[in-house]
Amino acid sequence: MKTDDKLQSTIFAIFGGSGDLTWRKLVPSLFDLYRDSYMPVNFSIIALDIKNLDDEKLRLRYRDGVEKFSRNGKVDDAGWVKFAKHIYYEKGDFTNADTYSVLKEQCNKLAREWKDNPQIIFYMATQPTMFGIIPTHLKETGLTDDKKHTRIVVEKPIGYDITSALNLNKILTESFDESQIFRIDHYLGKETVQNILAFRFANPLFEPLWNRRFVDYITITVAEDLGVEHRGHYYEGAGALRDMVQNHLMQLLCLIAMEPMVSFNADEIRNKKVDVLHAIRIIPKDKVEEYAVRGQYGRGVSGKKDLCGYREDKDVSPQSTTETFVALKLWVDNWRWQDVPFYLRTGKRLPRQVSEVTIQFRGVPHKSFPPEATVEWQSASLVMSIQPDEGIVLRFQAKQPGNKMLLKPVVMRFNYQESFSIPLPDAYETLLWDVMNNDATLFMRADQVEAAWEIIMPILENWSDNPPFDFPNYDSCTWGPKEADRLLDEGHHWPLPTELEEIVYSL
Ligand code: BG6
Repeated sequence: MKTDDKLQSTIFAIFGGSGDLTWRKLVPSLFDLYRDSYMPVNFSIIALDIKNLDDEKLRLRYRDGVEKFSRNGKVDDAGWVKFAKHIYYEKGDFTNADTYSVLKEQCNKLAREWKDNPQIIFYMATQPTMFGIIPTHLKETGLTDDKKHTRIVVEKPIGYDITSALNLNKILTESFDESQIFRIDHYLGKETVQNILAFRFANPLFEPLWNRRFVDYITITVAEDLGVEHRGHYYEGAGALRDMVQNHLMQLLCLIAMEPMVSFNADEIRNKKVDVLHAIRIIPKDKVEEYAVRGQYGRGVSGKKDLCGYREDKDVSPQSTTETFVALKLWVDNWRWQDVPFYLRTGKRLPRQVSEVTIQFRGVPHKSFPPEATVEWQSASLVMSIQPDEGIVLRFQAKQPGNKMLLKPVVMRFNYQESFSIPLPDAYETLLWDVMNNDATLFMRADQVEAAWEIIMPILENWSDNPPFDFPNYDSCTWGPKEADRLLDEGHHWPLPTELEEIVYSL
């Protein structure tokens, strides 16, 4: 294990240092970066939290997280000891100014030891209620004075609605410049999500087809097989629209629909994405039913296991009206996409975990093959599979071998694992590396977040004014409420995951 002496000395001050996110994601990712020699010679992780812990106890807990969640699992003692000496614990209440004075003193001490002016990354891995408090204290303690060497990372949710998002962005920008604020959407750190840009803009092949002349419709599916697990409390106040659509699905849509960037520059790419958000037609509040369907999972069976419904989950109200499924039909009103429907759906407790974008191309203008040849005919489609089978699938027609002319859909597949045979980094590894290198390309700017809220506000308001009367309306381990089909135009369909479709085709 080596460190990188070209990288700037770095302090990670993690608020919520004893929490789940730090244990499960942040420290395992920092450890993987360290193991791959991507950490600077001088770095420290200062974990701040309210719990009674000390350095040793925290290091033990972190080792457990690293062994469970890092890319390589088990850690040898010598390697761990070297990494662990970079970790410190500070007990503190985030509403108390003393916590920040102690942090400041510790940062100064490290700077003296290293004889350097380190960059400090403040990471808010806390409850959202703290997001408005921490930046103000950091500013008051003078910890944000050096704009070149300080940055703040904010986890979602960025607000609860447009008003609270505007408010939070205001608080953040009172203490930090926009260029110092890194709002995380972990979907953007996924290799396959970044590959959408590479696929679209490094290969001229598809670009001429990537528009309303050739594309019939686009679907974006982010399905999860798990329920809300231990997050009932948070989820009750969020629901699928806030939890997934406002951020992850909107970001996917932007990458699929955006215009080519002029340069690979953070603001250039973010500008192109904001253009898409601004082009999305706002659904009138009184027409939400035509464009949006919500659902909540009931009981179901997975294999031989009985699953309880959402209303029976821990920390969930037995009368809960929170949606665990959303399907939307959106329009992007611009030259490229006018009249092409974008169907989005996401849900918990669906039959499997799968995130895929399908570009469904239009059919041929004239079918010259005899009718019997085209019984199984389907127009071509391109599937960008984000997880769990990371890759790209192109589906097109081929002649079935034999005397007769029979057409059948076949697939060409690019698979990440086969092509690169190296493990994909976790999204957090990519994002933490980018924060250290001050590259904001994969982070959300304030205007992006706000534009995404504007799009979902009428739906949120309509749904809150009209509580659902049919919840739960889909069984666990099914593809959501049947009603989602009514959003589809004639001839359109929600695709099966590619892997399942291939099984269907080869039958
Ligand atoms: C999070 C949501 O942002 O993304 C969770 O809060 C969801 O509810 C998760 O489960 C999905 O992320 P991934 O990377 O597992 O697809």
